[in-house]
Amino acid sequence: MDSMAKLAEIEQSFKKEVETCHDIQHLEDIRIKYLGRKGELTTVLRSISSLSIQEKKEVGRQANILKNLFSDKLTEVKEVIDDKRELQKTARIDVTLPGIPVKPGTVHPITKIMSQINDIFISLGFRIAEGPEIESEFYNFEALNIPLDHPSRDAFDTFYLDDKYLLRSHTSNVQIHVMQNQSPPLQVIMPGRVYRPDAVDATHSFMFHQVEGLMVGENIKFPNLKGVLETFCKSMFGSETKTRMRPHFFPFTEPSAEVDISCIICKGKGCRVCSGNGWLEILGAGMVNPKVFQAVGYDAKKYSGFAFGMGVERIAMLVYGIEDIRLFYENDIRFLKQFV
Ligand code: PHE
Repeated sequence: MDSMAKLAEIEQSFKKEVETCHDIQHLEDIRIKYLGRKGELTTVLRSISSLSIQEKKEVGRQANILKNLFSDKLTEVKEVIDDKRELQKTARIDVTLPGIPVKPGTVHPITKIMSQINDIFISLGFRIAEGPEIESEFYNFEALNIPLDHPSRDAFDTFYLDDKYLLRSHTSNVQIHVMQNQSPPLQVIMPGRVYRPDAVDATHSFMFHQVEGLMVGENIKFPNLKGVLETFCKSMFGSETKTRMRPHFFPFTEPSAEVDISCIICKGKGCRVCSGNGWLEILGAGMVNPKVFQAVGYDAKKYSGFAFGMGVERIAMLVYGIEDIRLFYENDIRFLKQFV
C-alpha cells in the first residue's frame, strides 16, 4: 500500500473512532494511537525519509494536514466532553437543601360551618339535596304561598334576571323541587347560595348562604321540629345551649317561629353581641303550610311536615367571633388561613 492510501485509511479510522468517543480517557487513547510517539500518523511521517523527493512533498504535506486536523478535532471533542461534565456537576440535585414547601389550601370558614351543619343533620337521618340558583317565580314564590303583593317579591328585594327568571332569594325553592320529585316520607337538608339586592355593610351581603331543612311524613308534629332543632343547636353551639321559639310569620309555614339560642358569648347574661338580652336569633322554622303541599300535589290531609332555614354567615360569625361579613368574600389569605 502506498503512503497516500495509508494516510487516507488512517483518516477514515480516526474519524470513526473519534465520533463515538464520549470520555476523556478514551480520547487520550485515540491521541496516543494516532499522534503519539509510536502512533500511526507519526510512523508515516517517520518513514518519509525513504521516499522519493516527489512523494516526500506530497505525503509530507498530507500527513501534516492530517496532524493538524486530528489535534483540532481532539481539542474540540475534549471541550464538548468537559462542558457536559460541568453541566452534570451543576445540575446534580443537592438533597441536603431545604425543599420548597407546597402550601396546602385551607377550607373556607363558610364551607367549614356549612359542612358541620350538614354533618349534624346527616347524623339525624337527613339527606342532602340541591337546587338551582337561577329560578322561576313559581319555585321561589308561588309554590311557597308567597302572594304577589308580598314585599319579598318586590324588585328591590329580589334580583330579577328578566320577567320569568330571578336569582333565588332563599333556599326554600329546593323544598318544591324535592317534593315534586320524591314522595313522603322524606328528610332533607338543602345547602346553597342565595341572593338579595341588599346594600353591602358589616352584616349584609348581596350573596350569602343558607341551609334549608324539610321533613315530611305521616304524623310529623311541632314537637318533632322542636326536638330536631334543639338537638342541632346543642351539637352546633355546645351542650349547655338553650333554645327558645318565638311566634313569627312565613307564608310557607303555619304555625311559624323564629328560633333563638342563648348567647354563646355571654351564656345568656347579656352582652354587646346579643344586644344585652341574652338571646341570638339564628333561624326561621315552622310546620309546612298545607297550601305548599297542594302546590306540589301532596295529600295535605295525609301528610304533615316541618321546614326550617338558617343563614350560614350569621352562624359562622357567631362561632368564630367575626364582626364583618365582608371578610368572608375578600379572599384575604391572612384571614382565610386562620380556619385550619
Ligand atoms: N326562607 C326563609 C328565609 O329565607 C327561612 C325559612 C325556611 C323559614 C323554612 C321557615 C321555613 O328567611
